[in-house]
Amino acid sequence: MSFSHPLPVLIVGAGPSGLALALSLVQHGVQVRIIDRDQQFHIGQRGAGIQPRTLEAWNLLGVLPDILSKSMGLLPMRFYKLPGGVEPAKTIDLITPEDPTPDTPYIHAQLLGQAKTEQILREHLAKYGCHVERGTELLSLEQNGSHVVAHLVKRSGDEEANESVVSRWLVGTDGARGTVRKQLGLTFLGESLSGKFVFGEIVVKNLSRDCSHNWGSFESGMWDILHDPYQAYSLSTPNVRMVNKFSEGRVFVAGDAAHVHSPVGGQGMNSSVQDSLNLGWKLALVERGLAPESLLDTYTEERLPVIAHMLKQTTNLFKTTRNAMANGEDASKAWARPRDLKMLGVNYRWSSIVLDERHPREASEKDMQLLDAYGADTSGGLHAGDRAPDAPGLAVVEEGNVSTETTSLFRIFDSAHHTVLIFSSDGSQIAAVLKATKKLPPRLIRTVVIYPRDSSPSLAVSGADVVCVDRDGYGHSGYGASPDGTTVSIVRPDGIVGALVSGEAGLEAYFRNVFLG
Ligand SMILES: Cc1cc2nc3c(=O)[nH]c(=O)nc-3n(C[C@H](O)[C@H](O)[C@H](O)COP(=O)(O)OP(=O)(O)OC[C@H]3O[C@@H](n4cnc5c(N)ncnc54)[C@H](O)[C@@H]3O)c2cc1C
Ligand SMILES: *[C@@H]1O[C@H](CO)[C@@H](O)[C@H](O)[C@H]1NC(C)=O
Ligand SMILES: *[C@@H]1O[C@H](CO)[C@@H](O)[C@H](O)[C@H]1NC(C)=O
Ligand SMILES: *[C@@H]1O[C@H](CO)[C@@H](O)[C@H](O)[C@H]1NC(C)=O
Ligand SMILES: *[C@@H]1O[C@H](CO)[C@@H](O)[C@H](O)[C@H]1NC(C)=O
Ligand SMILES: *[C@@H]1O[C@H](CO)[C@@H](O)[C@H](O)[C@H]1NC(C)=O
Repeated sequence: MSFSHPLPVLIVGAGPSGLALALSLVQHGVQVRIIDRDQQFHIGQRGAGIQPRTLEAWNLLGVLPDILSKSMGLLPMRFYKLPGGVEPAKTIDLITPEDPTPDTPYIHAQLLGQAKTEQILREHLAKYGCHVERGTELLSLEQNGSHVVAHLVKRSGDEEANESVVSRWLVGTDGARGTVRKQLGLTFLGESLSGKFVFGEIVVKNLSRDCSHNWGSFESGMWDILHDPYQAYSLSTPNVRMVNKFSEGRVFVAGDAAHVHSPVGGQGMNSSVQDSLNLGWKLALVERGLAPESLLDTYTEERLPVIAHMLKQTTNLFKTTRNAMANGEDASKAWARPRDLKMLGVNYRWSSIVLDERHPREASEKDMQLLDAYGADTSGGLHAGDRAPDAPGLAVVEEGNVSTETTSLFRIFDSAHHTVLIFSSDGSQIAAVLKATKKLPPRLIRTVVIYPRDSSPSLAVSGADVVCVDRDGYGHSGYGASPDGTTVSIVRPDGIVGALVSGEAGLEAYFRNVFLG
């Protein structure tokens, strides 16, 4: 791959955050270089669990089928009696099993070693001619109002060469001890928790694969052995820290480089991938000259409250688990995990770029303390800023005929487009909204007309990418659309409802905030 000058984006660190960001950018047609200090790809399992919300991110990025073909479901935890350690004491589920629903098809967390996840992401990146440059470390950087200069050292065996790269943007996805955050001088506030963790990987033969096997306690050193991926925990001090902002000038941080927390609760990679998905489309639009640079400020605006909430929650979980284990309380209480860790409620309702005509913003929603970033209380239906739900059973209309073939919203959404959902049976309203989308930059918008169930679309709709009938009604119920009126919902490339409006005026207002006029 040859690079244009100056390079649009340099990504430092090829863990899950860097790889997900790179994929999102190349899918938008933005050229990236992605470097990693390590000469070898990681082999460790690390964060093996994948939350449902992360599965949805993998769906948007087009890698989900590959992930699911290699992963397995989350295992129950089996504890053994001590001393001895061979007689099972108890087997518990970390999370109460739930059935998938039409709006949430991927409800079950999956297990897949992080090394395999990274490999799948690299394979997808390679299709765009993008390869991780190994053995390449960022030493320092400087920036001015238009460019970033990164000083790199490339190592291969005993050989070493320096290179300075000029790029328009730089993103540090270089992990908890990353260089980028330090170079920017961002504060990394938080605490060190009492208690220590040591992670190791060992191969244990002849363990059954139906559960994870656990011995000991926090006091004595707790072991947690999974079979494939093998992983053992015993005794480092968990840190809980986050940056005060996610960027400085033309340089951003994402993933562990921006926040670290106790591994209890398993929100590490899961949150990191959401950072990348949030930043990716915004950076792509700005780099392509289609959006104002101020759009990039909404990366911190949206992610900071989510991460702050996550740190609070994982710290509480860590303390509850540690104390319960120390006091010899029931393991099922100590390890019970609330449903919101699945992150399905994580939202940006307070964001300055989301537009909700149904639920006008209240002044209090700007108060950080009152934000419900994890959506623990999601009553009151869908809001702009929420996760866009799936809807299966959409019967595709071709040349005015309702086909037996169905599709779903999750098959339509992707990380490179805004999807405009038009719920209506009113031909002139549909035409007006479609006309308004034609004024927007081409190829960035996908339009989907969704007729109410049992309607027979008599008018041939022209100019929409997909026309369908909501055969099972899930689209209308999920998006709170009445079959008698018109509802327009704009779903962002990161799977967030950007707007819930009633027609083309709302659509234009949303895009005025996102695109350059
Ligand atoms: C041993 C271990 C076990 C874990 N287990 C769990 C778990 O069970 N559950 C859980 O929730 N989370 C776990 N985590 C956390 C999880 O792995 C992270 O949240 C996740 O990897 C974050 O991804 P990232 O891409 O932000 O950072 P990383 O995966 O850390 O990637 C950062 C990359 O940047 C590279 N890099 C660093 N500095 C430079 C530089 N100056 N120049 C170039 N490259 C650089 C590094 O080589 C690395 O490849 C674990 C982490 C570790 C270390
Ligand atoms: C993601 O979530 C799953 C499910 O709770 C958890 O097991 C896993 O450790 C998390 N992964 C990371 C890397 O945080
Ligand atoms: C910023 O730095 C780049 C790269 O060194 C340089 O080409 C450019 O002229 C500088 N711009 C300003 C305004 O100093
Ligand atoms: C590379 O740069 C570093 C730091 O500026 C310097 O110490 C080192 O000698 C340089 N190496 C080579 C091979 O030029
Ligand atoms: C593992 O199980 C097999 C079959 O039950 C047995 O033959 C073998 O000896 C066991 N290995 C160990 C190390 O216990
Ligand atoms: C639609 O239905 C009509 C009448 O049944 C038929 O003639 C036509 O070929 C159909 N069109 C498509 C695209 O299936």
